Amino acid sequence: MQTIYECAECGSSFPKWTGRCPACGSWNSLNEKTIERPAANSKLHQGFATDSEPVTKLSEIDDLNLKRWDTGSSELDRVLGGGLVVGSTILLGGDPGIGKSTLLLQVICKLSKNLRALYVTGEESLQQIAMRARRLELNEDQLLLLAETNLEKIIAQLEELKPSIVAIDSIQTIYSLANNATPGGASQIRDCAATLVRFAKRSHMAMFIVGHVTKEGALAGPKILEHMVDSVLYFESETESRYRILRAAKNRFGAVNELGIFVMSDRGLREVSNPSAIFLANPHHLNPGSSTMVLWEGSRALLVEIQALVDESYLANPRRVAGGFDVNRLALLLAVLNRHCHIASYNQDVFVNVVGGIKITETAADLPLLMAIISSLKAKPLPEGLAAFGEIGLAGEIRPVPYGQERIKVAIKQGFKTLVLPKANLPKAATKAPIKLIGITNLKELLASNVF
Ligand code: TYD
Ligand code: MG
Repeated sequence: MQTIYECAECGSSFPKWTGRCPACGSWNSLNEKTIERPAANSKLHQGFATDSEPVTKLSEIDDLNLKRWDTGSSELDRVLGGGLVVGSTILLGGDPGIGKSTLLLQVICKLSKNLRALYVTGEESLQQIAMRARRLELNEDQLLLLAETNLEKIIAQLEELKPSIVAIDSIQTIYSLANNATPGGASQIRDCAATLVRFAKRSHMAMFIVGHVTKEGALAGPKILEHMVDSVLYFESETESRYRILRAAKNRFGAVNELGIFVMSDRGLREVSNPSAIFLANPHHLNPGSSTMVLWEGSRALLVEIQALVDESYLANPRRVAGGFDVNRLALLLAVLNRHCHIASYNQDVFVNVVGGIKITETAADLPLLMAIISSLKAKPLPEGLAAFGEIGLAGEIRPVPYGQERIKVAIKQGFKTLVLPKANLPKAATKAPIKLIGITNLKELLASNVF
């Protein structure tokens, strides 16, 4: 037996009590806890487990476990890497009110038709869930519901019911009697999630765990759970936007760069199966300072509007503010613009915003962003029906990006008339495309073209 002092906020433990947690700085949060330690001379202490698992040859292990279920939502399946892997654990994170419970209820109702499914709610009453399910016209006949927040009771129910799929909504409300820290604190969240995940793995249950992201600190939120689960999905959206973006931050069974796109309607979350142009307000007419970029996200192209506002600055250090775009890359692009095109912005504030809450992770946005900046500086809109993509190098050169042909195809499909792109991304064979392709090799060529 050993006595330790554990912080209820961050979960760190210390041998001595202090008034303030040395790790996270919160006051009066250390609680006394006794833990079992193996005796110094026991086999376990010396590193010998008494009943260890047998060793197996890699070649003898079959991957039957990697069977996948169709969740009934092609966007969710896409983000999961092609369906829900049987027996996997998934953390679904996001701001409160974004639609986590709605998505989960829709998915689990669909799965409950063929599998035994249990939805554990610690936030809403059973009536509220039932009302929502009826309003969304879900076929809820087979779904099992449990309103419970005590971990031990939940585990007891799971042992009895043996469901194939469980949803825990949300981990912040679950508490364990074995832990006397406050529910919702990091220590409770971590312990309860660890127990649930261990139980799910042992019983080959698929488990969704909902976790709210707290605005003030990710520490107490789902971040501390990321390493425990197989997949971490984040649900994001721009305030006021109806669109919801589901993104995998971690996935042991698939790629992490796929996006799932949903729209929140009065009938719950609907999938957006052809999202190419949803991030364009008025696709073919742009205001000064706006341009349309052809992004590649996961395995498909998206047309997304990017806006820039360049305005005279009265500050010693003009502001560089970017939403959805890396602010250091913005500074780099402004330097390239100054050096190679003699378009200075040292006395200008520059604000950049990517429409629709998309976060840019690829360099193909460089060229359309600079076009938006130049358009704002000149207070002149870009021509109608124009889109662009391309990476910009430090010498002002326009570098090719992957998936050039696919991006061109999507721009054509959405009815764009002109596409500015890296020369190296032009199709090899001169085809008669219904779009004017302007291939450029450096920024000077962009300024010399009749785009501006
Ligand atoms: P919810 O799934 O409860 O969010 P979370 O579990 O992430 O906290 O979603 C709540 C929001 O979604 C709420 O503001 C209302 C909205 N909503 C709709 O617009 N239409 C619907 O059909 C449903 C069920 C919810
Ligand atoms: Mg909820």
